Amino acid sequence: MSLEEQDKILDLRFKILELKKQKNAVIFAHYYTRPEIQDIADFIGDSLALAQQATRVQADILVMCGVHFMGETMKILCPDKKVLIPDMNAGCSLADSCRAEDLAAFKAQHPDHMVVSYVNTSADVKALTDVVVTSSNAKKIVDQLPKDAKIIFGPDYNLGSYINSVTGRDMLLWNGACHVHSRFSLEALLQLKKENPGVEVLAHPECKAPILAHSDVIGSTKALLEHTIQSSAKRFIIATESGILHEMQKACPDKEFIPVPPEVTEGIGCSCNECEYMRMNTLEKVYACLRDEQPEIKVKKETAEKAVSSIQRMLQMS
Ligand code: 13P
Ligand code: SF4
Repeated sequence: MSLEEQDKILDLRFKILELKKQKNAVIFAHYYTRPEIQDIADFIGDSLALAQQATRVQADILVMCGVHFMGETMKILCPDKKVLIPDMNAGCSLADSCRAEDLAAFKAQHPDHMVVSYVNTSADVKALTDVVVTSSNAKKIVDQLPKDAKIIFGPDYNLGSYINSVTGRDMLLWNGACHVHSRFSLEALLQLKKENPGVEVLAHPECKAPILAHSDVIGSTKALLEHTIQSSAKRFIIATESGILHEMQKACPDKEFIPVPPEVTEGIGCSCNECEYMRMNTLEKVYACLRDEQPEIKVKKETAEKAVSSIQRMLQMS
């Protein structure tokens, strides 16, 4: 990085910290955001930790550096606070794979089923949901549901199959996927394992079943991070979005993290394991959104009123 770029970052950091104080704002960042965003955040976490933390802070403004559904979850839980997101276009391919009208039609075909939705969904989908889960608590929550409950699980097919396998349930699965996690290359993983014998493989449950079958630890971003801190191992192969490597490397400077590359499909997206939506959060945009107090996340009152119970049920059952 050139001196000029370093100066620019320092200047932006200073301005952001000033505005944060002036406006009584708190900055949240998901582990998949750029390193410089994680470094200015008051709280870094996975989607469950960020939602939980949002309900605990005393602030007028919450800035959610992540993706749109995370901002919506915060707004639903904290309706009296102003929730800002640095870029309104920071969406999520997984959330987009389940439209509320399609879920409503599917529910109508299965009226005896309850709906368990992954947090990576729009507020409208959460409003049609009985209980929300994240990758941190999905097993724990599904385990608490009545044994004879018929369940629709969406939108992540890979997470749903994994939860079916560890809970012995037979949930009806929505066929959605995250474009980052579903593209990790099995061939590359097997090659990395061959080149690094005995090295543990850590994977997010949004990865496809063959990747999970070759992994030693499966968990949310936070669970994977905690494992790298607690483990006595010095090297790990990581199958999740590469943003988490920043926090892993910070927490364990003496350990080595080897990211699994994605399959390279001609004409489809990039050939890296980064979520382009998460990368839309930049220091410039954080500064501008604090200065202008926009873009602001708004959720229709009636949607929020319906969605809040499914999120609160999750928080109680976590
Ligand atoms: P976490 O629940 O692990 O934060 O994952 C959220 C997400 O978007 C994963 O792609
Ligand atoms: Fe959505 Fe995938 Fe990005 Fe997570 S990594 S925010 S699931 S697109």
